[in-house]
Amino acid sequence: METKLIKFNPDKIDSLLLQEAARVINGGGLVAFPTETVYGLGADALNPLSCAKIFEAKNRPLNDPLIVHIADKQDIFKVAGEIYKRTLGIIDEFWPGPLTLVLKKSQNIPQIVTAGLETVAVRMPDNPIALALIKEAQTPIAAPSANLFGRPSPTTAQHVFDDLKGRIDMIVDGGKTQVGVESTILDLTQTPSRILRPGGIDIEALRRLSPDIESYQGNRILSPGMFTRHYSPKARVIVVEDGNKTQPERVKDIASEFISQGYSVGIMAKDENKNHYNGDFNLKILGPEKNLALCAANLYSLLREFDKDGTQIIIAESVKEDGLGITIMDRLRKAAAKESDV
Ligand code: TXA
Ligand code: MG
Repeated sequence: METKLIKFNPDKIDSLLLQEAARVINGGGLVAFPTETVYGLGADALNPLSCAKIFEAKNRPLNDPLIVHIADKQDIFKVAGEIYKRTLGIIDEFWPGPLTLVLKKSQNIPQIVTAGLETVAVRMPDNPIALALIKEAQTPIAAPSANLFGRPSPTTAQHVFDDLKGRIDMIVDGGKTQVGVESTILDLTQTPSRILRPGGIDIEALRRLSPDIESYQGNRILSPGMFTRHYSPKARVIVVEDGNKTQPERVKDIASEFISQGYSVGIMAKDENKNHYNGDFNLKILGPEKNLALCAANLYSLLREFDKDGTQIIIAESVKEDGLGITIMDRLRKAAAKESDV
């Protein structure tokens, strides 16, 4: 299959190109498109055969459900049922935005989308191209991240192309995504409501609006289809957390060990520590710890760059687990998990 790459200007969306992309969705095909978090691989959420192609293209196991994307808050009633006032309050505050809600599924949603669950994950993305495409197609769009299963999520059209060229019909290039990590997933079907995956929303801000959400205790509960090893580059990842030595000291100790064994070593450091490093390794800067949003936006892109450089071992400094730092550390630990942990 030939993958068509089309460039969109998010500030001035070309209506002919938009129609072309929507026609692919309506014809049962797959279109990768930008959201504010990461690129999604979209199909008509009401067409089970189209959604089946998503799993095939990504090599994704069928027990890993998809997120349904809508362009209008009202459309939640087409996708989900049992929507109470509290849910509407959360939507009013956080949509469009990087918050996915798990709700009771409506009859309209095919089983393949929810991996047979009675619940559905739904969100309204905060990206003009994503919203325009959903509106033009006049159907909710099911979309997981547009990467091969287990790889870091794509934050540029090039990342999507690297993973999925020849496997999908179209890639809509709308530039680099702003948030850079996936949406936060909040399960409203449980009492208390639970965060299944930390993501682009500040959990504390969510809990201020809705204090009955359980405080997030790390990766205790896994969303269906969430595996310990995930978001992984080809290189082995080692995350260095605080210890008795400073982080740069610990990172350099580990780096020398691997370099002496002949490995090609990469270091992912915070801006604040960059002057501590010079040596025979591939140094990349995640961003300043005081700007965790910028760190989140760079994370997946850097992991992919290390792979392109042929780096075999990535030694990553940890960041403080606060706000988006919770999400960054969740993804780094998953990238670091060994295959045997799955
Ligand atoms: O930001 C995002 O969330 C991006 C963009 C494209 O929207 N999407 C994304 O989807 O990251 P991805 O590849 O993470 O897959 C969706 C995840 C599943 O792995 C699963 O953990 C969770 O959403 N999920 C989907 N349906 C669910 C359900 N009914 N109950 C619990 N978790 C569900
Ligand atoms: Mg994914």
